[in-house]
Amino acid sequence: MSAVTTAIRVPRELAVKITSLGYLGFRSPLHKEWESFGPEVFGLGLAEPGSDGTVYLRMDDRHHRVAVHPGDQDELAYLGWELTGKAAFVEACAELEGHGVDFRLGSPQECQERKVAAFAQFVDPADFTHEIFYGQVFTAGSFQTAKPSAGFVADHHGVGHCVVVVPEFTDELEHFATEVLGFQLFAGYLAPTPDGKLAGPQFYRCNPRTHCFAYIAIPGMRGMQHWCLEANSLDDVGKAYDIVQSREDIPITMSLGRHMMDSLVSFYLRTPTGFDMEFGAGGDALSDDYVQLSPSSPEVWGHKFVTQGWAPTVRPVAPPT
Ligand SMILES: [Fe+2]
Repeated sequence: MSAVTTAIRVPRELAVKITSLGYLGFRSPLHKEWESFGPEVFGLGLAEPGSDGTVYLRMDDRHHRVAVHPGDQDELAYLGWELTGKAAFVEACAELEGHGVDFRLGSPQECQERKVAAFAQFVDPADFTHEIFYGQVFTAGSFQTAKPSAGFVADHHGVGHCVVVVPEFTDELEHFATEVLGFQLFAGYLAPTPDGKLAGPQFYRCNPRTHCFAYIAIPGMRGMQHWCLEANSLDDVGKAYDIVQSREDIPITMSLGRHMMDSLVSFYLRTPTGFDMEFGAGGDALSDDYVQLSPSSPEVWGHKFVTQGWAPTVRPVAPPT
């Protein structure tokens, strides 16, 4: 792979038309932990578990937004990108073909497990699994938070954002994010490493959320870093912060603070299944006349590292032979 060029490129018209990060899937030997962790800390709802014990977490009237499947190790299983409907899905599959992206259609059983009408699965150049889908099951008026709270930013804004670590940022990753998936670059802070590669974060957006996905390039590392869940009320974030501080089994990885880039007030914690979560409120929603600015600092205040090191789901990659 080559390092990313600095030339400005115009995204191709033939990109998949994604509306949101619609669902997330994880695998873990400790998947059952989420049956208490999700409701107790955040107020996430639960759907009936899968026949294999998969834990389904709810944020709104959708059947679920996050699935935690049983597995041998803690890892991200897939990111589910939502399309407007069948016509968009058929078009998107043709667009994937046009880009030379190998994909497979989900089987009827898999669609039943995802509770979607159809999905197509493929991997990105860093080997993370992505899915495009449409027609997820919902039940109007069915969602209740597991504890008294104002609920979550979800619905047409989707799950939130997901950040994955890659060992270097490359042209292939930029092409995949902007020209295959059609994301807009929200912000990027790449810097050259001593060996001439590019490290740092690249944040992408696909709807009014400032970002729905990010690659962070860290030399020698790869894996799931964090999922951000956004609450409707800052008080619910503060109450969760109190709970986490009172529980020794839930490490805080970054203290409460406000990002300058997206205004979100949040803190970070380590989940029982390895990856980190960011829980926040008050993130900016961008309009079409958004103008990209460059923050002078990552934080307005706070966000101090409490637990050092990356999430255990971010692992060293084998050096090239
Ligand atoms: Fe984040």
